[in-house]
Amino acid sequence: MAVSLHDKAKAVLANNDRGGYTIPTESLYPFQWNWDSALVALGFATYDQDRAWREIETLFESQWDDGLVPHIVFHAGHERYFPGPSVWCTNTNPPTSGITQPPVAASVVRMLWKMDDSKPFRERLEAIFPKLVAWHRWFHRIRDPLKKGLVLTVHPWESGRDNSPEWDKAADAVETGGVGAYQRQDLKLVDNAMRPTNEQYDQYLALVEFGRQNGWAQEVIAKTCPFQVFDLGCTMILLRAERDLLSLAGLLGEAAVAAEARERIERTENAIDYLWDDASKTFCSRDHLTGELSGFVTSASFLAFYAGIGTDAQRGHLIDHLERIDRASRYLLPSFDPEQPAFDSLRYWRGPVWAVVNYLVSMGFTECGLDDWAQRLRSDTGELIKLTGFSENFCPLTGAAAGGGDFSWTAAMWLAWAGE
Ligand code: GLC
Repeated sequence: MAVSLHDKAKAVLANNDRGGYTIPTESLYPFQWNWDSALVALGFATYDQDRAWREIETLFESQWDDGLVPHIVFHAGHERYFPGPSVWCTNTNPPTSGITQPPVAASVVRMLWKMDDSKPFRERLEAIFPKLVAWHRWFHRIRDPLKKGLVLTVHPWESGRDNSPEWDKAADAVETGGVGAYQRQDLKLVDNAMRPTNEQYDQYLALVEFGRQNGWAQEVIAKTCPFQVFDLGCTMILLRAERDLLSLAGLLGEAAVAAEARERIERTENAIDYLWDDASKTFCSRDHLTGELSGFVTSASFLAFYAGIGTDAQRGHLIDHLERIDRASRYLLPSFDPEQPAFDSLRYWRGPVWAVVNYLVSMGFTECGLDDWAQRLRSDTGELIKLTGFSENFCPLTGAAAGGGDFSWTAAMWLAWAGE
């Protein structure tokens, strides 16, 4: 009997399960990644609620004392990975990176709770809640220099959209002269045409070096880092997560936390136009050091619907962009505007489609009454997976697999959303 895609997706999760946490994929990403884990939990939740909660709990076991939840937790077997713990030097146990990633966890926790609100999960919700609060507070304390509720990132990897052209200018200004010789591992594992260039990798490492030299003192880094960008994606995802935290706070009778979250939501809502580019009629990221908006339409621009922001006019412009992008691309949603010169259909966040982003954007479309677009993202994601399997990402022009294979969050999205 032919194995169904459903069973194959479960097998991907089982193969990548390391006991309490799931690696994104063998070899290329052999540890726990922050937002991958949160989204992977949604896949587990379709057949094993306990395992779904465990995924998130394990991630938060590595939360720093100041509230930061690291972007990678190096649980085991990191000898050959680059850049591994000896490059980051955060002196944590288990070792972690020193930066964060999109804070989607509170939103996922709320979804898990909605799926099963029986007593054991109530206890787990009560235990994880203060940790979510601490992480959100960390963003507002350390990564909100304008006190507007806009998220500052100090490394392109924090955005989760690592190689997006949105970071090119800001990253080009990073001094890379001090970066010593090193050996990339990713190029041995994936087609080089799908990975960042060596110049970009030097910039990434210079920023890791900067954090390390500053002993990962987060306040110092946020004030002095040579790369400081307000990331649209993280801002939208945090805004949504604050709304979900607010709802959880209500449920748990945490009035003070609810008031705090409400205040932060208002702050971001009032300031979000700082990330609106009226010239290109889109939400986008903004360099804090130069004040420049990227002006680019990316998949993150459409997270406005997921975050529940934007005037009717702004949303209208975004849908105009979507129609234009749809004409230029066989599959939605390319991570970068296919009509821009920096578009690259196969290279990492410069064009390819990610199932997880489609999921978040589609949820936003549904909530805003844009059912046809929501359904389009779902059916395109399903088609891509049927065509090429659970790859890391997909070429928006041909549907070809790109990046690593047998990817956990792609499998999770099939189970939780895109599958039949
Ligand atoms: C890449 C992606 C990032 C993801 C990680 C693991 O670095 O850019 O978003 O978390 O891979 O899948």
